[in-house]
Formats: sequence, structure tokens, C-alpha cells
Amino acid sequence: MSSYGDVFLYVGIVWAFISLGLLLLAWRAVTQGNVQLHKRLMIFLAVMAWVFIAAYLLRYKIPGAIPEIAPQYIPWIAIHGTIALVPLFGATCLILARLISRKESHFNCYHRYYGRVFVLLWCFTHLGGMVNFWLFK
Ligand code: HEM
Repeated sequence: MSSYGDVFLYVGIVWAFISLGLLLLAWRAVTQGNVQLHKRLMIFLAVMAWVFIAAYLLRYKIPGAIPEIAPQYIPWIAIHGTIALVPLFGATCLILARLISRKESHFNCYHRYYGRVFVLLWCFTHLGGMVNFWLFK
């Protein structure tokens, strides 16, 4: 695998642990009434998720940066990749709704319900990333 592919794999596993911790911290913060910390962490994590996706897609432009994936792992990769898009777009919608939409808007009214689903799917995505590291390193 090319050096970009190796760097992506190792940076990815370190980021998976860090962001899983920050995500749980962001959730805990708002349950303890610290909305500012919750807001800042969620905005940081959503921005970093888009940066991660850009770095992931860049691999397709660099020869040898994509690891060999055995056919039996393709269904798992498809599930992991598809589920990962839900908290990415979901968190972005919740943030934009809090920043620019009316208080009564749908995402603001059901923020905590969507939020709990997106945080759990986001945790699943990070844990999936850890599994992928061991599958493809
Ligand atoms: C600008 C960004 C954000 C702000 C200002 C914000 C603010 C808040 C506030 C004020 C609450 C308290 C309940 C409520 O108002 O409904 C809350 C709850 C919650 N938020 Fe956010 N939030 C933001 C982004 C996010 C994102 C991106 C997620 C998840 C991906 C999220 C997940 C949650 C969860 C799970 C709760 C409920 C906690 C619980 O009671 O279990 N928030 N948020």
C-alpha cells in the first residue's frame, strides 16, 4: 500500500479513538447543562468528519492507496460506509438548524431524539473504523 494509504490507516485509527471520546464527552456535557461545550465539540467533530471523508475519497486519486479488500469483507464495508453517512449528514443538519433555523423548525424541535440516534450511529461508525484498521493494516 502507498505511504498515503498507510498514513490514512494509522491517522484514521488514532482519530477514531479521539473522536469517540469527544463524542461521548459532548453528549455528557449537554446532559449536565454545558450547552456551549456540547455545541463547540459537535461543530468540531462534524467539521473533522467532513475532513476525514475528503481524505478518504482522496485515496481513490492516489495509485496504491486503497487496501486490497477480500470479497467476504465487501458487504461489511458497504454497511459501514452507508451507516457512516447518516451521522455525517444528520449532525450537519442538526448544527445548521441550531445555527440558522427558527426555534420551531423540525430538527430543532426533535433535536435530542435525532441527536441520540446520530450519536449512537456515529459511535458505531468509529468502532467500525477500528475493526477496519485490524482487517486491512
Ligand atoms: C450547533 C450545535 C448544537 C447545539 C447548539 C446543540 C444544543 C443542544 C441543546 C440546547 C440541547 C438540550 C435539549 C434541546 O434543546 O433539545 C441538546 C441536546 C442534545 N444534543 Fe445537541 N446541539 C448541537 C449539536 C448537536 C449534534 C450535531 C448532535 C448529534 C450528532 C447533538 C446531540 C444531542 C443529544 C443526543 C442531545 C440530548 C442529550 C440527552 O438528553 O440525552 N447535538 N443539544
